Amino acid sequence: MSEAAPVSSRLPVFPWDKLAPYKATAVAHPDGIVDLSVGTPVDPVPELIQQALIAASDSPGYPTVWGTEALRDALTGWVERRLGAVGVAHENVLPVVGSKELVAWLPTQLGLGAGDKVAHPRLAYPTYEVGARLCGAEPVVYDDPTELDPEGLKLLWLNSPSNPTGRVLPKDELTRIVAWAREHGVLVFSDECYLELGWEAEPVSVLHADVCGGTYDGIVAVHSLSKRSNLAGYRAAFVAGDAAVLGELLQIRKHGGMMTPAPVQAATVAALGDDEHVAEQRARYARRRTVLRAALEAHGFRIEHSEASLYLWATRDEPCWETVAHLAELGVLVAPGDFYGPAGDRFVRVALTATDERVDAAVARLS
Ligand SMILES: Cc1ncc(COP(=O)(O)O)c(C=O)c1O
Repeated sequence: MSEAAPVSSRLPVFPWDKLAPYKATAVAHPDGIVDLSVGTPVDPVPELIQQALIAASDSPGYPTVWGTEALRDALTGWVERRLGAVGVAHENVLPVVGSKELVAWLPTQLGLGAGDKVAHPRLAYPTYEVGARLCGAEPVVYDDPTELDPEGLKLLWLNSPSNPTGRVLPKDELTRIVAWAREHGVLVFSDECYLELGWEAEPVSVLHADVCGGTYDGIVAVHSLSKRSNLAGYRAAFVAGDAAVLGELLQIRKHGGMMTPAPVQAATVAALGDDEHVAEQRARYARRRTVLRAALEAHGFRIEHSEASLYLWATRDEPCWETVAHLAELGVLVAPGDFYGPAGDRFVRVALTATDERVDAAVARLS
């Protein structure tokens, strides 16, 4: 090893290790743990997607980073149809190997480093900060991004619907932020991986013609099939937007060998061509959300935001680790809000990703 500090020393402590003792308590419950701590899908991969993967399993050659023609057609078609974007060409889309790797390595791939700033919401998915730290840039948090000092700000992360709060940025708010970022030459990446999971709000993409004016200068949306199609295990995601930014990422990712496996590309085409399985999965989450929400409220919780996404953002107006401990005694494991920033230290994040049977067990224990 060289004298330089290891790269890992720039990163925060991996927080999930802190949850291990509470998990042990929850596992010891006589009826077993109800794990609502991680947003990992538990329902089956839809049959038509499995079939597409199997049909493409004889894939001996290297896939390309940009993906097959069929994949790019599926991506552009979905972005226009589902997001309300106009004039989306193959140059406006790029597959990635699950969105987490993109979030973590984007600042590096954009050539950012010391002296540059990367902004993300005050309460956020931790990987935005990790990505900034990996390349030596400075992470900065915001409540309203248009109040940030644009000096040195190279990348602005939006996340609507939000992990962990489930908050949705309304269309006029997005429009105002995009206009501000363009005026100041700040590149916007909008993480929209929960867009299909709106409950009391209808999430809107930055690529919607009303928000971006039908041109993609300086804006990119990030989409993932992990949640909408139960494909977290496949690693299927993509970015869409500014052709110049995506062209540069394509060059770098070609050199880096960041290819989506060919069978996963085929599965993605099938998944984006079908809305029925998305509606079915939404219905499962909607039911779990309704019963969990009612049970938590009856148990003394207050739910904030949570109008979309896979989570309930809940508080008993006490430090989050006390809530985690209380629920662990009932055999229910949730994520402490401070995993997502110090501002979350009186909240817990309750994921809807458990089977109906486990969710019903949690409801019974809360009553
Ligand atoms: C806000 C947000 N972005 C990105 C991801 C990464 O998803 P994936 O890598 O499965 O596409 C997650 C996963 O939970 C997330 O919550």
